[in-house]
Amino acid sequence: TNGVFRPEMRRVPTGELLKPNRKTNGVGVQAEDTKICVVMVGLPARGKSLIAQKVVRYLHWLSIPAKTFNVGQYRRTATPNPSAEFFDTSNPEGERLRKAAAEAAVNDMVKWFSEGQGLIAILDATNSTKSRRRWIQDRCQAEGIETLFVESKCDDEDLIMSNIKEVKTTSPDYVGQDPEAAAQDFRNRIRNYEKVYQTIDEDEYDLTYVKLINVGKRVVINQIQDYLQSRVVYYLMNLHIKPRSIWLSRHGESQYNLSGKIGGDADLSERGEAYARALPGLVKQSAGEGRKLTVWTSTLRRTIQTARFLEFEKLEWKALDELDSGVCDGLTYAEIESAYPEDFRQRDEDKYNYRYLGGESYRDVVIRLEPIIMELERSENILIVTHQAILRCIYAYFMNVEQERSPWMEVPLHTLIKLTPKAYSTQEERLKADIPAVSTFREKGSSAKHQEGDAA
Ligand code: F6P
Repeated sequence: TNGVFRPEMRRVPTGELLKPNRKTNGVGVQAEDTKICVVMVGLPARGKSLIAQKVVRYLHWLSIPAKTFNVGQYRRTATPNPSAEFFDTSNPEGERLRKAAAEAAVNDMVKWFSEGQGLIAILDATNSTKSRRRWIQDRCQAEGIETLFVESKCDDEDLIMSNIKEVKTTSPDYVGQDPEAAAQDFRNRIRNYEKVYQTIDEDEYDLTYVKLINVGKRVVINQIQDYLQSRVVYYLMNLHIKPRSIWLSRHGESQYNLSGKIGGDADLSERGEAYARALPGLVKQSAGEGRKLTVWTSTLRRTIQTARFLEFEKLEWKALDELDSGVCDGLTYAEIESAYPEDFRQRDEDKYNYRYLGGESYRDVVIRLEPIIMELERSENILIVTHQAILRCIYAYFMNVEQERSPWMEVPLHTLIKLTPKAYSTQEERLKADIPAVSTFREKGSSAKHQEGDAA
């Protein structure tokens, strides 16, 4: 359907609105009865909460209902600012309160599953003894919930130190306290845990588990039982926590952008060309001199042309091609509205799920982008030159944007976005080239032609 509108394709509009249900959710998993509790295991400052938060973000992006139950938050309601002694196992009151917090978290998790919406719960705590893990395993088994234990082991002092630094400045346990005193107390807390910590070993051969040693360096897997579990494990295997950034840019303005047509495989406009020439300078400004990165483009001309002056290794991905607009490819929004008024309306109503006749929905795009996300997790510095809809989906993954909102986000032409993953969020910077371009953003309900944007 590239670029050309063929009148013989003017069939009765029947673009589909495909909503997932529990049986066939976003990833097509037959998951009606699946309930999985991912049980985090490990000493404090081993990145457990970071891993938990990433897994939940990834699952949400794939439309898999997931929720974290953080035992620390339950403990905090009873004991908001405990000192290290609270975590000493010879302190019976501390032991009692900590067990009570774990019970409250597990009870809420069981309730969440029984309400019928959940597929994967993450129990975020140290769960550092065999008896605690056995208790969780028995409790889950009785409720028909599978368990997947995820142990984060780490002996890399730098990594631990940077986690301690992060905790002392961000943990609600140490609000308003002197950072040095907080760090010292936190180290003592870790020492108290170390006294009783038992790594998962052969005695626990019957447990389903994955051990992550120095995140990304070594992985040990035991007894993985089903597709969804292996999916989570595969994701965990690809994670690393080396510092890096990801740059996102749309292609330069194209001939189709100028005429307001969607899809196609048009060349760049003159201003698009100018953006392509300016891009190496923008990247240097954002990444710094001498930073090594790899450039990914789609297989369409406009992204390849945009990237061609960048002196880095380049890879073309079919999976980065623009959302396929099927029979509407090559039309303007106004033409779509008059040829397929019902479809046009349906798309506005539920843009994420609406699938173009003979084409794709945003939901479809997310599924085809999954290998890209996996590869991005494995990689270091990457610059992706791609298209409006694709960029929205990738951005939504990193920035945790809700599904309904993501297809409506503005991602202007001639703008370089830099994303830097940090422990608990992703930092964003935008750099605009001083080269005007049309705006291809269409508001809900409008079929106005692409507007001349401000000097981008
Ligand atoms: O207009 C540029 C474009 O990349 C089209 O090729 C594509 O169909 C469209 O944007 C996607 O944006 P939306 O989902 O808002 O129509």
